[in-house]
Amino acid sequence: MEGWTCRLDRARAPSATRARFPIRRRLSCRTVDAVGLGVRAGLTAWNRSAALANGYHGMAKILSLELTDRCNMRCPMCVTSSHRLGSRENLLSSREIQREILEPGRALGLNRLVLGGGEPTITRGLHDTIQAALSLSYDVVLTTNLLKPGRSQMKRMLKQLDHLRHVIMVSFDSLVAEEMNLIRGGRFQHVVLAHCRLLVSLRGKMGAQTQLIACLVLQETNAGSAMETVRFLLDEVGFDRVVVQPMHRYYSVSLDNYREQAVMLRSPSSPRLSQAVEEIFAASASDGRITLIGGTPQAWELFYRDPLSIPGRCRAPEYLFIDAYGNLRGCVVGEVLSNIRLESIGDYLASERYARFLELVAVCKICIHPCS
Ligand SMILES: C[S@@+](CC[C@H](N)C(=O)[O-])C[C@H]1O[C@@H](n2cnc3c(N)ncnc32)[C@H](O)[C@@H]1O
Ligand code: SF4
Ligand code: SF4
Repeated sequence: MEGWTCRLDRARAPSATRARFPIRRRLSCRTVDAVGLGVRAGLTAWNRSAALANGYHGMAKILSLELTDRCNMRCPMCVTSSHRLGSRENLLSSREIQREILEPGRALGLNRLVLGGGEPTITRGLHDTIQAALSLSYDVVLTTNLLKPGRSQMKRMLKQLDHLRHVIMVSFDSLVAEEMNLIRGGRFQHVVLAHCRLLVSLRGKMGAQTQLIACLVLQETNAGSAMETVRFLLDEVGFDRVVVQPMHRYYSVSLDNYREQAVMLRSPSSPRLSQAVEEIFAASASDGRITLIGGTPQAWELFYRDPLSIPGRCRAPEYLFIDAYGNLRGCVVGEVLSNIRLESIGDYLASERYARFLELVAVCKICIHPCS
């Protein structure tokens, strides 16, 4: 993976590299509104023809925002570990998040905010950011490993997100402690499990409407217990739904490297993994609370065996990915395309780089990540 360098890592060192990007034209909510439908939909003449040709009509609706690159776990698989930079100097402030991302994003038609990281619950600005998002009428999905929050923080989360439109999505990979501890890089399972039970019980006591969803990343380590874990999370812990997704390995995907990555990083599924996929799909057919990302067992099989043959079309243009340093990616495993400090969201969506990303999604369907 080291061979793929992030072309826009330079956005992480703005002073040295600003010259390579267009001077930022600030777009306030009001000016975005005044510009009209083209920009409101996230498209201008510059890339509208490319987007239309590809069937993407300014579809960005979901803002996926990493609040921090820090984390209190050490999952070896972590899909966002490549976003960690060591230096914290250029992290976005809560004010920047509100002014430069949430407000203009809403004006451009984004209506759902997925808060991730790193671990969002360890950040100081979490609740302010949620409040800002709520005041702009975003539906909020807070993703968390639930290791840190105690009773009072959980109550605060539930109070803020007290509506069926909002979700707290908790990572939980196995009811077998050793398996989950391996996946999460430390002895965390028993604390997380106790916190999951507390969260469900607090929601009941408070009468909060927040949806509580568990997310399991299926891999070799937990394949043998996955079906049992899904049942356990639903029937014993009391989550409303469980979402199962495969482990992804791609990094800094671009038009130039997506084929190579698909071939090099595929990992043929073991019989145990295939069986788990089959079992969970069968269970999901009769239990609407179980969701497998990717749609069909065939898509999973191809993801492991022959990713270049996965049918369908990538849905990443429905999302906007921004990391804790303001870097903009087209998809969660995509290369960095720009930085929010260098150009506004509207300008980014209208840029040549974003048009090139639309060219990528027109041909790339190498993964079954939620955004794909
Ligand atoms: C990056 S984490 C951020 C939120 C929080 N720290 C957590 O783990 O829930 C968001 C989600 O991505 C999942 N994830 C991390 N690495 C992954 C990978 N390589 N493939 C698939 N999902 C992954 C996590 O399990 C979690 O559900
Ligand atoms: S808890 Fe989440 S952010 Fe932290 S290392 Fe694990 S997957 Fe990554
Ligand atoms: S299929 Fe979509 S989400 Fe997956 S790597 Fe390709 S562009 Fe990214």
